[in-house]
Amino acid sequence: MAESKMADPTLVHHIATGYMGSCVLLAALELNVFDELADRSMNAQEMADTLGLAPKPIERLMVALTSLKLLERTDGVYSLAPEAKRYLVKTSPSYFGDYYRFEVRHCLMPDFIRLDELIRENRAVMADDWAAYMDDPEKARMFSLGQHSASLGGGRLLARIFDFSPYRKMVDLAGGTGAYSIAACEMNPELTSTVVDFPNVVALTEEIIAREGLSDRIATQPGDVTKVDWPEGDLMLFSLCLSGFSEEWHMKFFRKCFGKLPSGGAVLVHDFLMNEDYRGPLLAGLYNLTSVEGVPVSGADMAKRLEASGFVNAEVRRVIPEYTVLVTAKKP
Ligand SMILES: C[S@@+](CC[C@H](N)C(=O)[O-])C[C@H]1O[C@@H](n2cnc3c(N)ncnc32)[C@H](O)[C@@H]1O
Repeated sequence: MAESKMADPTLVHHIATGYMGSCVLLAALELNVFDELADRSMNAQEMADTLGLAPKPIERLMVALTSLKLLERTDGVYSLAPEAKRYLVKTSPSYFGDYYRFEVRHCLMPDFIRLDELIRENRAVMADDWAAYMDDPEKARMFSLGQHSASLGGGRLLARIFDFSPYRKMVDLAGGTGAYSIAACEMNPELTSTVVDFPNVVALTEEIIAREGLSDRIATQPGDVTKVDWPEGDLMLFSLCLSGFSEEWHMKFFRKCFGKLPSGGAVLVHDFLMNEDYRGPLLAGLYNLTSVEGVPVSGADMAKRLEASGFVNAEVRRVIPEYTVLVTAKKP
């Protein structure tokens, strides 16, 4: 039977060539194209002279960046689009390009290109075992520097969306560089936090916390959250980590939170969680491919897991558009 309307091939083509856009962005970040355009517009020849590189490849790169809408071009002169100015210039307070330079390029991309192989072998993207991965100081640092660049903005957003002010002691489980603790503590002068993560990660966390002048309010505890005892607190945060774990682990973690929290204490789950129909959002669907042993979970299903562990008033709200969700629940 003839199809009533021909399916549009553009969808398939855009998906299949998406890697080219990623590579153009990574090249421009490494070559400092965005930084050089921060204070002055220039043509391709001027950019090539500034970078000390041949003009033709630079012109090709700048045209590609313009097609991606990261640069604007008028009469052969290039300037930054607002998104590039805000997020891709290293001196911008909202810069998160190091996430792509370090974590995406070195930790995720080499495995995404062989996703079929990993799926056939029942293996995870990047790390089959986080503890073994983070045991390598160089890998731990590369991943965590990248994650920090992305999590700083997410942390600031979460601190605006969730009212941390009733709480005094947060426990930031698998907290990485403590970006979420830093943002929450900066906005809530009475809050303190302890970041629990692997030893090679918290070595960097300590450096970052000291640089931010928060060493008196944010502590670290090196260790594997599946094995060590957790610090005491009235707020337990799991940011961008539970999606890596199985449902069995979610339930074990939530029951452990319930046992440790005082009445009125709360759990926050911030992660790339799916919509209720499991049809999106796009970035949540894609990032779920990085799970070690879990399968995608919706915000609503995560809320049910919290309630099944004894928590009440579970609420689901979107944090980073198209990407993350916050699920909160309280101990009665
Ligand atoms: C995607 S990062 C998120 C870090 C931080 N929560 C944030 O949102 O910026 C995941 C973190 O989970 C940590 N992690 C994973 N499994 C862990 C475990 N079993 N014990 C401690 N940390 C763990 C990793 O080392 C990494 O820092």
